[in-house]
Amino acid sequence: MASTKTTQLRRIRFSLWILVAAAVLALGGAYFVRTIGVREPPPVTVGEAAIRSEFSLIDHNGNRVTEADFLGRWQLVFFGFTHCPDVCPTTLAYIANVLDRLSGEVERVAPIFITVDPSRDTPEVMAEYVQAFHPKLTGLTGSEAEVAAAAQSFRVYYEKMEEETAPDGYLMAHAGHIYLMTPEGRFEDVFREGEQSAEEMATDVLARMNGKQ
Ligand code: NI
Repeated sequence: MASTKTTQLRRIRFSLWILVAAAVLALGGAYFVRTIGVREPPPVTVGEAAIRSEFSLIDHNGNRVTEADFLGRWQLVFFGFTHCPDVCPTTLAYIANVLDRLSGEVERVAPIFITVDPSRDTPEVMAEYVQAFHPKLTGLTGSEAEVAAAAQSFRVYYEKMEEETAPDGYLMAHAGHIYLMTPEGRFEDVFREGEQSAEEMATDVLARMNGKQ
């Protein structure tokens, strides 16, 4: 009897240790996912349905706009900042290249650049910046809170980072994804410059616009 009881106790202890280990693994896993998610969010795998085009911001002409102003058009949305040394200019030039390949269908698309650096990116700064890339491009800015809310609706990561060599001593780290949103403002797909040619992305976007995918 005694040995049976000892065996039972050992099993119970073992079960408890399994529970503890599982809890530790779960917590560690959650922390890992959270850390990775913050640094490099994979928007395609983390609840696409949760990604929505919802915002209230100021366009580069100084007008208050919301997602309702863009409904009915396929939105191409990219977050960044005008002092960005590399990703933003490269990606915006790429978006411009894609737009030029949509030819007659370009009116059905609303390309939107949302700044994550609203303190420097005023409507005037945004106007000059976006117009250098493409006449169809809309630049959006707002208060810190409004920009944060917009980024949250798109599940976009960004973070202010001190950088001695950068203008004003900081950079805005941010995700480099281009969101394709449906005319109803729902998530359709995500693209990144460098993953396909502008021609390929234009063909892909046109196919979706025309219901072939
Ligand atoms: Ni950038």
